[in-house]
Amino acid sequence: MNFDKVIDRRGTYCTQWDFIEDRFGKGNGGLVPFSISDTDFQAPKEIIDGIMKHTEHGIFGYSRWNHHDYKYSIVNWYKKRNNTVIEEDWVVYSPSVLYSVSSILEQVVGPNGKVIVHTPRYDGFTKILQPYDVYEVQLLEKEKGIFETDFEKIEKEFKLGAKAFLLCNPQNPTGKVWKVEELRKIIELVKKYDAILISDEIHMDVIRKTATSVLSICTENIIVVNSPSKTFNTPALGGSYAIIPDKTIREKFIFHMKQIDSVSSPTIFGVLSTIIGYNQCEYWVDELNKYIEDNCRYVVEKLDGYKGLEVYMPDATYLMWIGFRNSNIKPDEFQEALINKGKVAIMPGDIYGDPYKIRFNVGCPMSKLKIGVEGIKKSL
Ligand SMILES: Cc1ncc(COP(=O)(O)O)c(C=O)c1O
Repeated sequence: MNFDKVIDRRGTYCTQWDFIEDRFGKGNGGLVPFSISDTDFQAPKEIIDGIMKHTEHGIFGYSRWNHHDYKYSIVNWYKKRNNTVIEEDWVVYSPSVLYSVSSILEQVVGPNGKVIVHTPRYDGFTKILQPYDVYEVQLLEKEKGIFETDFEKIEKEFKLGAKAFLLCNPQNPTGKVWKVEELRKIIELVKKYDAILISDEIHMDVIRKTATSVLSICTENIIVVNSPSKTFNTPALGGSYAIIPDKTIREKFIFHMKQIDSVSSPTIFGVLSTIIGYNQCEYWVDELNKYIEDNCRYVVEKLDGYKGLEVYMPDATYLMWIGFRNSNIKPDEFQEALINKGKVAIMPGDIYGDPYKIRFNVGCPMSKLKIGVEGIKKSL
């Protein structure tokens, strides 16, 4: 795959390029965006060709996800990539990862119930956690790029009645890959207080360090939510999945999805891209990882220490969590300068819980990345 290839996405109703003004204000539609979490890379050829082939009859009737081909592609992917054994029966389709999280929280926590989550965190979590009593556990940056959680605080919150822990594994926005010992400790606490661990593993494939699925450690009190959409850059194709070992929770999840939310037929594009991506495109993910690693290295080389910026190589994701506390510039001023001087659209960190950071999406061709890096330098 030629990840250097530049493809003009403008005028395709894509959020990243066509709706910049929604996030960065009216009149700023001409910025170069490094914002929301998709990439500028074309999906693997196998997925594109497969979708064409399977749908060339032009009949877009109702489709099914509950079959061996779909579920086994997920089972096999977890085995191949994460050395994790899951059973086909545990796999359930869901329209999106956030839908799964929301539905599971509704079921296991209930209205006004207590949920533990880390700060900083993915803004999508913040939105769906609104109906709940949220216990935030701060991820502490012990040294640049080394984030640690606070197990005592987690235990305290469980004692106070938290029923679920929403974990981002690997973590958006810090890019942290959780160590096995850390995951073990979290799981021990979840089990001790008979709560549920929801592990969002959507960033599990784009990595620089070995990431561990919680299901390789334990299958009790655990639900994994995931999607191939970050891996193959296919979020607009729709679909995701949950892995729910507990039969009662799984059946309730399916009942709720089908009978209450009326989600029965998946998008055929989501089903096909999962099967084809997971069965045929492992090599592509390895190439993508090399490319993203080079992009991250370039950003570290060019920006770390530049006028006080703190830049590190994230363990995972194509998102770089860049600090500017020592840059003598206020968050509002920096954002203003990025827009007006640098002409780049980069997510301000306060959305995720730290105003002195920006989240820079490096999932793009090197030529575009250079524009982003120059934009950041210029604004400072
Ligand atoms: C951690 C995390 N979970 C979920 C999502 C969104 O997944 P979906 O579009 O399937 O809800 C994202 C997208 O940025 C994400 O970063």
